[in-house]
Amino acid sequence: MNRFLAALALLLLPSALWAAPDGEALYTRHCSVCHNDNGMGGIGLPLNGEKLEHFSRDYVFKTIRNGRPGRVMPPFIKLSDAQVNAIVDHVMSWRKTPPQRWPETPVQGNPQNGERLFKEKCTACHGEDGKSNGLGTGVTLSRERKFKVVPPALNNIGFLRSATDSWIRYTIRNGRPGTIMPSQKDFGISDQELDDLVAYIRQFEKKHDARPKPEQEPPTLVFDSPYDFVTTVSNLKETLKGLNFRYFPDRYMEMGLAPDDQINKKQLSLRFCNFNLLYKMINIEPRLGVILPCRVTVVEEDDGSVKLYLMNMKVATQLFNNDQLSALAEEMHENLMELIEEATL
Ligand code: HEC
Ligand code: HEC
Repeated sequence: MNRFLAALALLLLPSALWAAPDGEALYTRHCSVCHNDNGMGGIGLPLNGEKLEHFSRDYVFKTIRNGRPGRVMPPFIKLSDAQVNAIVDHVMSWRKTPPQRWPETPVQGNPQNGERLFKEKCTACHGEDGKSNGLGTGVTLSRERKFKVVPPALNNIGFLRSATDSWIRYTIRNGRPGTIMPSQKDFGISDQELDDLVAYIRQFEKKHDARPKPEQEPPTLVFDSPYDFVTTVSNLKETLKGLNFRYFPDRYMEMGLAPDDQINKKQLSLRFCNFNLLYKMINIEPRLGVILPCRVTVVEEDDGSVKLYLMNMKVATQLFNNDQLSALAEEMHENLMELIEEATL
């Protein structure tokens, strides 16, 4: 009977659930915060105009899947292929001409000569080694209007995994009409020089792949204290002072959750911060304010042992997908480890 009801319920499901995903709705939900309505651009590069006529479906599909790690654009890994395809269709519907395909054949060039040309013609905008200038947030509104679009990073693994050599070559040759990105054909660049530039840019991918992979980290770090609860808390406070952290009033974990007289006084959060680091991080990512300042929670377990719980900054900041932020988180992590080590010595 139950199985019959389940089958019946399935049949009665609204047919919309079976229909193809709605690309426009998905775009609005996942992309428009950064790329704006109709791809006008915002935090993310514009997706409309002349350049869109030369985007391949494959480039847009892979860009959505790969994101631009360290450059704000997240990788969309949870969307189904059908959903990503629907978004691609929607973006492509803004074009005037049919989508293009770019050959996959790698370009053969001389990367050393490419590097020389890159320094001469491209570094001013795309930065040393193609890592772009700015903090990786796409658009800076504080700069003069002409520079509103921050030139994208060309050493970015998400970019390199999505773009074919032939299309990169085309983009360098023709520039991005309507933006500050110049066309090199106006400067009489030769075919060989174009190949050399592409070969140089492609090399960043090999360098990236040669880098050691970040190990899988747990989201919460747990440490044993050799001391009792009260001593552990006072050690931590002493160490915080010594390391020049500022700390905020203590908070019992259950404050606000249980009546005052029933609060477990053996679960205490110490909240503190290093303002110098904190300001640098919030400058890059204001949303971090939600999880900072740092805290260590000291808990006396049922068996009398005392444990320290700490959020893993490295994991928390990974969510924001920004290299500079991750470097600061690494620094903060080192600070925290020093704190734990001294307090539990
Ligand atoms: C949190 C902001 C953010 C979101 C969300 C986002 N993007 Fe991006 N996107 C960017 C930024 C920033 C860049 C430029 C990367 C750089 O600066 O190196 C970019 C680049 C791109 C590019 C390459 C543009 C070019 O000129 O080659 C495409 C295509 C793109 N995004 C499509 C999408 C689509 C489609 C979605 C939704 C599924 C999406 N993005 C969601 C920020 C975002
Ligand atoms: C005056 C600044 C400027 C110079 C010089 C410049 N670019 Fe760009 N470049 C940009 C901007 C801005 C964009 C993004 C434009 C847009 O899509 O809105 C861009 C886009 C690109 C892209 C596409 C990247 C992507 O994510 O879609 C490539 C590839 C590129 N440039 C390569 C080069 C190379 C190689 C040179 C040197 C031969 C060069 N550029 C010189 C400003 C510049």
